[in-house]
Amino acid sequence: MGKGLITLRDYSRKEIEEILSLARVMARDQRTGTDIAKGKILAALFFEPSTRTRLSFETAMLRLGGKVIGFSSSEGTSVGKGETLADTVRTVSQYADLLVIRHPREGAAQLAAEFSSLPVINAGDGSGNHPTQTLLDLYTMIDHLKDLEGKEIALVGDLRYGRTTHSLAPALALFGVKLILVSPQELRIKNEIKVELDKHGVKLRETEDITEALDADVLYITRIQKERFPDAAEYAKVAGSYRIDRQLLGKRTPLIMHPLPRVDEIAADVDDLVTAVYFEQAGNGVPVRMALIVRALGLGG
Ligand code: NCD
Repeated sequence: MGKGLITLRDYSRKEIEEILSLARVMARDQRTGTDIAKGKILAALFFEPSTRTRLSFETAMLRLGGKVIGFSSSEGTSVGKGETLADTVRTVSQYADLLVIRHPREGAAQLAAEFSSLPVINAGDGSGNHPTQTLLDLYTMIDHLKDLEGKEIALVGDLRYGRTTHSLAPALALFGVKLILVSPQELRIKNEIKVELDKHGVKLRETEDITEALDADVLYITRIQKERFPDAAEYAKVAGSYRIDRQLLGKRTPLIMHPLPRVDEIAADVDDLVTAVYFEQAGNGVPVRMALIVRALGLGG
C-alpha cells in the first residue's frame, strides 16, 4: 500500500524533496494527461469550505485518469443524523482507494487514518496542519528562489489560528531559512511551534510591524481566520491588521505569496507585479497533488 500524509512532521527533507521532484514530472504530464490511476477512486470528504484544495485534488485525480467521489460539506450526509467521523471513514473506505479529508477539528485526519483501511491525505484539520498546501508552497518558493538556504521568509497575519503557517514554518526549518513572524500580539504563533523551530536552530524574529519585514525574500501573507475565533469581538480587534499595497512595497520586490482566499490583506494593485505569484501558487496545487496521489496509491511515477 502507498503512503498517506497527515503531517509533514513525519517527513525528512529528503522525502519532501522526492515528492517535489515527482511533482515536477507531473507538471509536464498534466496537460497531456496520463492514465496511471485508471480504475482508481479518490474519495474527497470535505467537512469544511474549500475552493482550491478540493478542486485541485479533483483535477489532479482526473488528470491521472482516475475518478472522484465525495462531498463538499457535511450537509446532505449522515453526519446530520449523528454519524461519527470514525463510522463515515470506515464506510467510505469500502468504496474508494484513497481518502482526502478536510475537517474543522484539529486531529481529525489522524483519527480518520486510524479508522481507515486506505491511505489518508490531510487536506486541513482545523487550526492544526495543512501539509499539501505546504508542499505546493515549497514547490513555488523553490521554483522562484532555487535554493532556500539562508533566505529570509516572512510569515504574516494570523499565526495563531492559521493552519497553513503551522505546517509551513517547521517544514521551512528543514531548508535552512530565516523566519520573520509578523502578527498582532493576539495572533502570535503558539509557543510549542517556536520550541520546535528552535530545535531546528532556525533564526527567528517576531514583530507586529509589517514594515520590518518588507526586505525579506518572501512575504507569505495569510488571512485572519475569522471562523476560528471564539467570539466576534476578538475578531473585530484584529480584522484588517495588515494590508499590502504598492505604496507600502515601494520599489521592493519580494516574492508575494498567499494560500488564498484573500479578504483584504493584498490590494488588487499588487496583482500585476511579476513577483505576486499567488495564483500561480494555487495552480501548483495540481502537480503537487498528482504526485501525492501517485505516491499514496503506490503507482510508481
Ligand atoms: C487555506 C486553508 O484552508 O487553510 N486555504 C487553502 O487551502 N488554500 C487558507 C485559509 O483558509 O485562509
